[in-house]
Amino acid sequence: MTKSGGSALSDDVLVVHGGTPLKGEIRVRGAKNLVSKAMVAAVLGDTPSTLFDVPAISDVDIVRGLLELHGIRTTLDEERSLRMDPANMVNAGVDEINVHAGSSRIPILLCGPLLHRLGTAYIPNLGGCNIGGRPIDFHLDALRAFGAVIEKQPDGMHLSAPKRLQGIKYRLDYPSVGSTEQILLTAVLAEGVTEISNAAVEPEIIDLICVLQKMGAIIKVHTDRVIEIVGVDRLSGYQHRPVPDRIETGSWAAAALATHGEIYVRGARQTDMMTFLNVFRTIGGAFEVDDAPTGGGIRFWHPGGQLSPVALETDVHPGLMTDWQQPLVVALTQAHGLSIVHETVYERRFGYTEELREMGANIQLYRDCLGGTPCRWGRRDFLHSAVIAGPSQLHAADLRIPDLRAGFSHLIAALAAEGTSRVFGVDRFITRGYEDFDNKLASLGASVERP
Ligand code: EPU
Repeated sequence: MTKSGGSALSDDVLVVHGGTPLKGEIRVRGAKNLVSKAMVAAVLGDTPSTLFDVPAISDVDIVRGLLELHGIRTTLDEERSLRMDPANMVNAGVDEINVHAGSSRIPILLCGPLLHRLGTAYIPNLGGCNIGGRPIDFHLDALRAFGAVIEKQPDGMHLSAPKRLQGIKYRLDYPSVGSTEQILLTAVLAEGVTEISNAAVEPEIIDLICVLQKMGAIIKVHTDRVIEIVGVDRLSGYQHRPVPDRIETGSWAAAALATHGEIYVRGARQTDMMTFLNVFRTIGGAFEVDDAPTGGGIRFWHPGGQLSPVALETDVHPGLMTDWQQPLVVALTQAHGLSIVHETVYERRFGYTEELREMGANIQLYRDCLGGTPCRWGRRDFLHSAVIAGPSQLHAADLRIPDLRAGFSHLIAALAAEGTSRVFGVDRFITRGYEDFDNKLASLGASVERP
């Protein structure tokens, strides 16, 4: 054991007896990083919206709580269809909103919709994973350009719109997902035309555009990351089945590889996973796409033999997404040879490798850009490249989860390791993005228990 668990965390721990290949089937629902944004979009409509296949994760609960505070009635049925009725919207109290401070990054996306519907908005200090500075300068700069007045206070931000927000021509310094969503959610009801250049075009963003189009928006996605929005006077509610969660899919795929197992991820979709699937196959993993008319999915397995090392760079879509990096690094500890991973999206997304090293992994971090593309973090004090020498026999440890995706990777490492590990912080972090993971692990034959 490398660290001792504290008593304050004793009810937030999963005991993992490693070494059993994960085998079986799990199902993924709508993507966390679309569902939460589609919930924000419901604020823009003047009739109810229904979102299907909503995952049971705490990020959804947080956004639901914020919608309720603003008078939006929400009901969730047994099939996990979420109905949101914005008929009686009201301004919420600062103290009530502050209860959600620090729990998620989604509140910032409520700015534009609340300004359109209520004329004012209060946004608490944001949360989210500690994987870099995570500034919101693009968000605020764009909102000001639309005509919003922003007053920053120690507890949060007060925003107002003295008149109808006006369309803007805006170039993002970096194709940020959240900032692109911020501009989309604000532009759809602004007066006139908005043009975003250097926009992010992740599948979840395209799906959000589909939601907004269903509501009555006019949005054109041009070539070269340019998105044009023609503002309209009103939007109605929508009915939408979200894009499946490609991060969760990739996490289970990496778990199959690292534990020599076989996992069928029902609901996974090939189009969203193409970049990941190429890497998975290059490492030596096997997969089969099931296009059954009744839903389908992707089966991932370790075909036996040695895994191969790779050189990877994370990037914005269509590159390899940064949220696949951590589970893949765990799988790469089992590859034969040297792998190189250059993280170009976030400056501090290798913190979790310290625990992997304590478990026996051979991972060195570098400040240099060890990839073909020099990135924003090169020649600065950020350990954003990793060299992984494998294979390593991982051994059990006490692990403290630092953030959501790193947490799931710790879990994969514990499942692949010899012996019994304790993973602390599972409820606090993993439930933010992985639905029902205790039961999913049990159904895959993992030997896990709550003490
Ligand atoms: N950035 C700025 N200024 C801004 C906004 C972003 O400099 O105003 C920088 C960030 O510091 C970062 C880069 O732009 O270096 C990319 O950040 P982005 O805005 O794209 O990230 P995000 O919208 O905050 C979403 C997902 C993340 C995912 C990233 C990248 C949600 C809720 N979060 O974050 O998902 O890693 O896009 O794809 O959609 C997760 O699900 O665990 C997660 C962290």
